[in-house]
Amino acid sequence: MSNVTRQTKSPAINEATQSANTETLLTPRFYTTDFDALNRLDMEPVRKEWEVLMDEFRRDGNHDHFQRDESFKQEIRELPPALHKEFMDFMVSSVTSEYSGHVLYKDIVNKTENPDLREVMTFMARDEARHAGFLNKALRDYGLPVNLNFLRKAKKYKYFKPKFIYYATYLSEKIGYARYITIYRQFERHPELRFHPIFRWFRDWCNDEFRHGEVFALIMKADPKLLRGHNKLWIRFFLLAVFATMYVRDHKRPELHQAMGFDPTDYDFRVFEITTKISQQIFPVSLDLDNPAFRAGLDRLLRISEASAEAKAKGGLLSGFKRAALGVAGAAAFVRLYTLPVCRNELPADVRMAPNW
Ligand SMILES: [Fe+2]
Ligand SMILES: [Fe+2]
Repeated sequence: MSNVTRQTKSPAINEATQSANTETLLTPRFYTTDFDALNRLDMEPVRKEWEVLMDEFRRDGNHDHFQRDESFKQEIRELPPALHKEFMDFMVSSVTSEYSGHVLYKDIVNKTENPDLREVMTFMARDEARHAGFLNKALRDYGLPVNLNFLRKAKKYKYFKPKFIYYATYLSEKIGYARYITIYRQFERHPELRFHPIFRWFRDWCNDEFRHGEVFALIMKADPKLLRGHNKLWIRFFLLAVFATMYVRDHKRPELHQAMGFDPTDYDFRVFEITTKISQQIFPVSLDLDNPAFRAGLDRLLRISEASAEAKAKGGLLSGFKRAALGVAGAAAFVRLYTLPVCRNELPADVRMAPNW
């Protein structure tokens, strides 16, 4: 058990915390926003649907879900080094993004007076604290807990206007649901592949994420101009940015996907399909996943990102030029993807949706 149940003496700024605090295009970020503008949010246009959703939160169905059972510890086993490394990377990036949600939602509670918002953000901050805590406990088994308090103070916060918070957070909650449920279903079919007990928690867990996404769907429905005119271009942008980031990042973890019995491209497209289906509840446009140029464009981005990582590893002046050129090529590849035709959606009268995957 060389890489399991190690204890760290000082968890202050261990490797996991450093990695969680690193800023790259692919790592999860922390956000801040215009809290005064949030105060003006008016949920009256969707009051009925909102109250039904709030009742779900008040019932708190996952109150006792994030407790380890008897066999959790026994199921932890030593992993081959390459898989261990990628699994830790996956766990650190997951805990960072769960905690990023907690910090944002908690900040909204502390810095706004809007009673609807404060109530729902209290629920969501509660859920994300549970998620981050559960992941971090699993990291502690490997001697690698992320120091979340340190992260809250040290991490750079990116400012997003409220509408960008809605688009980005809506998508990240829904894609989080799609990722967790796809992994859960895979291990349901192939329990022999389940190399860590935490995956057994993913089903009820992802229903929290689904519900969080519903909150932002209703916030956007309450203010329909967020879904019209030039905002459609922003929605396209966020859809593409979120999908492309996930595609590049997942392909950097080949061992992890192999251990799960997934081809990373198949896994990602399954997640994109689920997320696209869900997002049609509220987004007037979606990306055309069946367009071969879409797949080719994502692969181009991936190759550019790999070449850039290679140049960075080599170092030196020439590598700097090479990376700058690759940066331009990456931006061009992104623009080409962005200009592909999109699918238009007729929005349903009732936006609420159930997690049926
Ligand atoms: Fe979460
Ligand atoms: Fe969430």
